[in-house]
Amino acid sequence: MKVQVCIIGGGPSGLLLSQLLHLQGIDTIVLEKYSRDHVLARIRAGVLEHGFAKLMREAQCGERMDREGEIHHGIHISHDGVMDRIDLSKYSGGSSVIVYGQTELTRDLYEARDKLGGKVIHNAADVTPCDVKSDRPYVTYRDGDKVIRVDCEYVIGADGFHGVSRKSIPKDVLREYERVYPFGWLGVLSRTKPVSAELIYAKHERGFALCSLRSQVLSRYYIQVPLSDTPEGWSDDAFWGELKHRLPGEVAAKLITGPSIEKSIAPLRSFVAEPMRYGRLLLAGDAAHIVPPTGARGLNSAASDIYYLYHAMVDHYKKGDDAGLDGYSNRALARVWKAQRFSWWMTMLLHRFPDNIPYDNKLQDTDLAYLFSSEAALRSFAENYVGLPF
Ligand code: APR
Ligand code: PHB
Repeated sequence: MKVQVCIIGGGPSGLLLSQLLHLQGIDTIVLEKYSRDHVLARIRAGVLEHGFAKLMREAQCGERMDREGEIHHGIHISHDGVMDRIDLSKYSGGSSVIVYGQTELTRDLYEARDKLGGKVIHNAADVTPCDVKSDRPYVTYRDGDKVIRVDCEYVIGADGFHGVSRKSIPKDVLREYERVYPFGWLGVLSRTKPVSAELIYAKHERGFALCSLRSQVLSRYYIQVPLSDTPEGWSDDAFWGELKHRLPGEVAAKLITGPSIEKSIAPLRSFVAEPMRYGRLLLAGDAAHIVPPTGARGLNSAASDIYYLYHAMVDHYKKGDDAGLDGYSNRALARVWKAQRFSWWMTMLLHRFPDNIPYDNKLQDTDLAYLFSSEAALRSFAENYVGLPF
């Protein structure tokens, strides 16, 4: 089989790039390790920057997002028994975010790929990028006993943090930067009316909590837990009790609880791999970088990679201009690191760190006090939260 661009990974990054390139007449194939049902069973974040939303529309995948997604103009931060609101629109010069679950977005991308007859191979086993330093790279995968070879011009590694693409870059070329946080988030999805129309990020002496939502009848809540905890160790009652404890009294009193329909613990990690290009292999999204979920930057950082890659590929194929491809790694990383900084900062600001000394706690409080007392700080927060320009 021969295609122009072979994309490894059928998550949001791989599917969005494949769809955008297809619309420009560039031939792609997506090789996904798991079944579609498996990919769509993952519950992930749900806050989209306006830049990402624009890219979804350009990919002709924005219809349901625009119909069912909610535009949010602000968020709340609760701390020391008070709730402060950050007016994102006011401080970002009119921008906002869209609350729309990643699962739904991935479903829309799959449907769009189906509609255009896009090639998406599921259950592709042992996917292996080969000869990516040469002018004739190829990718092999196994379908049962058959090994299939895909010849291509470029390989896109969009196979997430645990994928094979990043690992195929030699160790003496790849530099990895990582911070692992000493806690995780226990998340619960419940078919209940959200406690608040806007997200509430809560800093509390017992640990961080977040009230988020997927729709007016579907809530998503999180609490910070030690890494040694397990979802099975947390009954629904224990979860709701702890969440209420960490929220301001008036919010806790309004919280509607119900059976959890999903419960899982995600460890928090910051990670960046450099460079994001090795020969004709280009990494995108979680394959190259991940963030703790605190700033809702994960999916959005993937989107900026896809934006740069999409334009670089179009310039290459339509104008014979390789500047975008040659500059891809540096350009993508410049924005990736800004998202890393913001996610790290928000994580440090709002969580309880087990080995903090009293001095650290005072600085945390001061950072919050500064945020809400300075218009410059609020502007900085807002421009990062709604998404820096691509
Ligand atoms: N071969 C083929 N596919 C693979 C392989 C492999 N060896 N390893 C992993 N995959 C697939 C995964 O099954 C997954 O469907 O690659 C896909 C990667 O998708 P994601 O992990 O969702 O990563 P990405 O598409 O970059 O999405 C951006 O932003 O909010 C964050 O983590 C969140 O998933 C989100 C990400
Ligand atoms: C979510 O809804 O899952 C969510 C929202 C905001 C975050 C993280 C997660 O910062």
